[in-house]
Amino acid sequence: MTFLLRQRTMIRKATEEDIPVIKQLMQSEPDYWNQDSRPDALRIALGSAKDLAFVWDEEGSMLGFICAHDLGFRAYLSELIVHRSARRRGIGKQLVQRVQDELVQRKCPVLFSDVWRTAEMFYRSLGWSEPKVTLLRIKLEGENSQPPAI
Ligand SMILES: CC(C)(COP(=O)(O)OP(=O)(O)OC[C@H]1O[C@@H](n2cnc3c(N)ncnc32)[C@H](O)[C@@H]1OP(=O)(O)O)[C@@H](O)C(=O)NCCC(=O)NCCS
Repeated sequence: MTFLLRQRTMIRKATEEDIPVIKQLMQSEPDYWNQDSRPDALRIALGSAKDLAFVWDEEGSMLGFICAHDLGFRAYLSELIVHRSARRRGIGKQLVQRVQDELVQRKCPVLFSDVWRTAEMFYRSLGWSEPKVTLLRIKLEGENSQPPAI
């Protein structure tokens, strides 16, 4: 019985075949999906994450997605989303823990993320804290460029 339950609910690596469903999940959260994103943004994100992109798959329903990038000196967590219907069940925590575990095994010393203000308490509850650096950004001008969402 336990074995069957384990088969039905799992964190597994995200693949390119998951992209349409991941996109739906991201678009289900107001303001999460940036309308100005490149059409192939998710494909690029998964390619860059390599084996640090995971989904929470529950009986065939994708309820969570996380994506991080190991850049050698440090790693960045770029996406984390749990479906509204599945929040406060520990899914976000387990997804972050999975990424952290992978990075610890590689001896990566630190993981950064720019986090939504509404998600700050979630990260702090997992032990995250403010670094001694400031987050800056530059708008990359181009034809039809829009103001950045963040
Ligand atoms: C942030 C998010 C990923 C959390 O996922 P989740 O699966 O609901 O989180 P968990 O159930 O693992 O929460 C673990 C702990 O974090 C804290 N926490 C989670 N959500 C919280 C909230 N909204 N307010 C305060 N604390 C919160 C709690 O301590 C919680 O433990 P508890 O439920 O036993 O009290 C989810 O709310 C989400 O997808 N939000 C919208 C998108 C987003 O903000 N993504 C992050 C962008 S940086």
